[in-house]
Amino acid sequence: MSDSASLKIGDKESGYPIRSGTIGPDVIDIRKLYAETGCFTYDPGFTSTASCDSALTYIDGDEGVLLHRGYPIGELAEDSSFMEVSYLLLNGELPSKDELDSFTYTISRHTMLHEQLMQFYRGFRRDAHPMAIMCGVVGALSAFYHDSTDIADPDHRRISSHRLIAKMPTIAAAAYKYSVGQPFVYPDNSLSYTGNFLKMTFGVPAEPYEVNPVVERALDRIFILHADHEQNASTSTVRLAGSSGANPFACIAAGIACLWGPAHGGANEAALNMLREIGTPDKIPHYIERAKDKNDPFRLMGFGHRVYKNYDPRATVMQKTVREVFDALKVSDPVFEVALQLEEMALNDPYFIEKKLFPNVDFYSGVILSAIGFPTTMFTALFALARTVGWVAQWNEMISDPGQKIGRPRQLYTGPTQRPYVKIGDR
Ligand code: CMC
Repeated sequence: MSDSASLKIGDKESGYPIRSGTIGPDVIDIRKLYAETGCFTYDPGFTSTASCDSALTYIDGDEGVLLHRGYPIGELAEDSSFMEVSYLLLNGELPSKDELDSFTYTISRHTMLHEQLMQFYRGFRRDAHPMAIMCGVVGALSAFYHDSTDIADPDHRRISSHRLIAKMPTIAAAAYKYSVGQPFVYPDNSLSYTGNFLKMTFGVPAEPYEVNPVVERALDRIFILHADHEQNASTSTVRLAGSSGANPFACIAAGIACLWGPAHGGANEAALNMLREIGTPDKIPHYIERAKDKNDPFRLMGFGHRVYKNYDPRATVMQKTVREVFDALKVSDPVFEVALQLEEMALNDPYFIEKKLFPNVDFYSGVILSAIGFPTTMFTALFALARTVGWVAQWNEMISDPGQKIGRPRQLYTGPTQRPYVKIGDR
């Protein structure tokens, strides 16, 4: 490809450099466009816009490829752990055994919450959505950990990143405990990151809690699959919030708020609710017809993706994990059969074929999480827990970039042109 692009507006032609990454589409660097032409680009939803340089995650949506620091997600999900992937995302390379042990130890030393912060929960209604609690409690962390909010100091950034990754399971588990009226279970640092989360969620002080290794592995894998996903809506939200110099706890709270929406992280909850509503395979054709009807707002939740126009590689791993968890827990749920048949029917339907709509990560995750015992309202909270590592890694990458600027998009103004103010008595 050429190394520059030209744009002709009327008689005036201007040139713009084309930049290449290591793989993936080139970008036309239009930073001087406004100064040279007086025009903005127009791209609502950012379908053709690269907002930053990033060396963390690569997606080829046409081929169904997802790489973290170059490593395929399928291989990471099969052979690594969430702590290892977290280290990889934060530091750029896979850790040695000693590095991983040291990182895991450091994270485990930050799992407790300031005791005063535990009082926050009591201000919420018992039926509050866990994501509402997460937004509030994570935002409040900045009021407790002043000693790690100087974003210009790399040590502060590292400590606040570790704190966020470490405390998120404690915060999410406490949100669950509060909703079911059980006492909070404090962290147990003798357990793995994921085992500790399971104990804080499902353990009770009155009885010993045994972590089921199959469930622990399955949940750890779900965390790996959700760890990072390039410049998605919540990650872009974290970057935009962080671009103003806001502290990391506030930025991650902003990411959580964005993730909650049903088009993004909220889709796992919506997908399972949809599968339960469908209930039996004979109802599937009716719901497929509804999804295709332009006059019906219903969409197949857990289907379609802005970037993947092929099978989401995370959905492949999820589907396999459902079977493992069902076998280990000796459970069956008719909803899994509905999901399998719905997938098959949709993938053979011309509407879904033409629009390249495939199952995404959220299509099967709810089936597994429900089998483990999580209520649907916790699904998005688990997504937030896992995505926190991606958010902090992306935030760190942005703050470390010397060319970083505040994010400030422009607009196509369509309101009234200037007009004189009319005093209230004269209207
Ligand atoms: N069911 C039925 N039709 C769909 C669906 C669906 N799930 N998804 C997209 N379409 C249609 C849509 O109606 C549109 O048709 P037309 O071109 O005739 O107007 C076309 O496909 C393109 O859709 P779009 O909304 O313009 O595409 P987008 O890239 O803006 O949206 C999406 C992507 C994920 C928001 C969308 O596919 C969707 O709403 N899916 C259901 C929600 C979901 O599963 N979200 C989780 C995404 S993966 C986890 C994450 O990253 O957070």
